[in-house]
Amino acid sequence: MTTLERTAEYTVTFRRDVAVLTKDDQVLLGLADRAGYRLRGVGAPMLAALEQVRAGLHTEDELAAEHPQSPVATVLTKVEPFLATGFRLRGERLAVLERTGVTGLRPDLPELAGAWLRLGKFSLLRRRGGELVVESPLSKYRAVLLDAALAGAVAALAVAQPSSEVDTEWWPVLAALAGAGFLDVGADGEFPVDSDDVLRQWDVHDLYFHSRSRIGRTDEAFGGRFPYVGEIEPLPAVRPAPEGPRTELFRPSFDAVRAADQGLQETIEARQSIRAYGEEPITADQLGEFLYRTARVRGTYGPRPEARMPYEGSSRPYPCGGAGYELELYVTVRRCQGLEPGIYHYDAGDHVLRLINTEAEARDELLRVATLSTGGQAVPDVLVTMTSRFQRLAWKYQSIAYAVTLKHAGALYQTMYLVATAMGLAGCGLGSGDADAAARAFGLDYLKESSVGEFILGSAPAELPAPVSGDGALDWRAGNDPGWQAEALAARRR
Ligand SMILES: Cc1cc2nc3c(=O)[nH]c(=O)nc-3n(C[C@H](O)[C@H](O)[C@H](O)COP(=O)(O)O)c2cc1C
Repeated sequence: MTTLERTAEYTVTFRRDVAVLTKDDQVLLGLADRAGYRLRGVGAPMLAALEQVRAGLHTEDELAAEHPQSPVATVLTKVEPFLATGFRLRGERLAVLERTGVTGLRPDLPELAGAWLRLGKFSLLRRRGGELVVESPLSKYRAVLLDAALAGAVAALAVAQPSSEVDTEWWPVLAALAGAGFLDVGADGEFPVDSDDVLRQWDVHDLYFHSRSRIGRTDEAFGGRFPYVGEIEPLPAVRPAPEGPRTELFRPSFDAVRAADQGLQETIEARQSIRAYGEEPITADQLGEFLYRTARVRGTYGPRPEARMPYEGSSRPYPCGGAGYELELYVTVRRCQGLEPGIYHYDAGDHVLRLINTEAEARDELLRVATLSTGGQAVPDVLVTMTSRFQRLAWKYQSIAYAVTLKHAGALYQTMYLVATAMGLAGCGLGSGDADAAARAFGLDYLKESSVGEFILGSAPAELPAPVSGDGALDWRAGNDPGWQAEALAARRR
């Protein structure tokens, strides 16, 4: 290798997280979290070659030339999953391109001569461990930038530039970053991605979240791995209730519930989003029954370490991954017969409400956002806000904790819709809320517990909204048995 190189060159190296252990004539290659690989009968020449791969300053040709007695190509084939592409310039390491999904060691390289370059909309530069990395949900690679000048050159591409403006010594590494999907390549200041209707419609955080919370493009620790066992205590199965005056809630009898309920399919068909309320408000007993049927704690159990459950679980009416039950309910009451307006926490363990905030302003702020979410249609009797005790899930799940909590919110939405329908109440799920305002109103630390969902509830209006299938709209096109809904709604009206 010469120290007079004028442009960056590709080298063969290991991923940054590979540990290489040698013992006698054996070499053990391991990734931090994954299975290792043992090379046996490794002689001194092969050891020397592996050491050079670890140093990451040699090209494959150089390795082959320097180790004619050791079949370098064969060794590299054996350790292929642990390999990455390195870059060197003037004898220094510049960067490493690691695979995060199933793909080739190196991406196809675009032609940079005459092209324009720009940092991709989805490319994120962040600290990972002690290094600067570039990631993108469009990529199956991660680039580790080891050189500050290179990092500066990449950051400067936030402003589109013709490649001729970029120092040619960076071109090989920039071509690889472009091929890996971190840089846009265009011509004459125009970039084809700008007219890609699919990419235009993805928000950066959504696509990053999607790519990091599903398998395929991420090599980060994934799933139920309990990374903090022995270091951090798990949050309790049932959240300790906050301070505040207690209100005992009504507990329905199962016999009465069974006698009053319609069949499952009839309830499913009669379910509607209702954003209007009756003259008489919902009652405290109805609210108690609703919470009892949707979200009460039926009991707790565990820990059961032998069943991969080294924490206490609970049982509630809606399903929850790992029986973690991290969702909490806060009830903002505007109008409820038998219950003062205010903001309450629902203690699902004791089935009681705790009055935690009596400020009219805090209440009105939450209700105002809920009203906005309905396009101004509803001023809810009751707003049920779902918060997540984030660390309850993050203690167990890596990469997917937040995605899982949103799935739980969805499961609880449907449970609430169905119970509201069965009880003849007006319910509607909401797609957004102000998590910061909710944390303020509920006295929560945003990072520990904040809102992830909202459901508005009240007494049913005298006139139920006409279903979209039944309002005589000229644009209605019948599909599969829309009459089921009409029949179920007719039964509900009777
Ligand atoms: C997750 C979720 C979010 C929703 N967000 C809102 C919302 O923000 N505002 C609103 O008025 N309705 C919202 N809805 C209700 C939908 O608009 C409604 O379910 C849809 O139009 C179908 O009508 P239906 O529920 O009466 O069958 C939401 C429903 C769900 C499940």
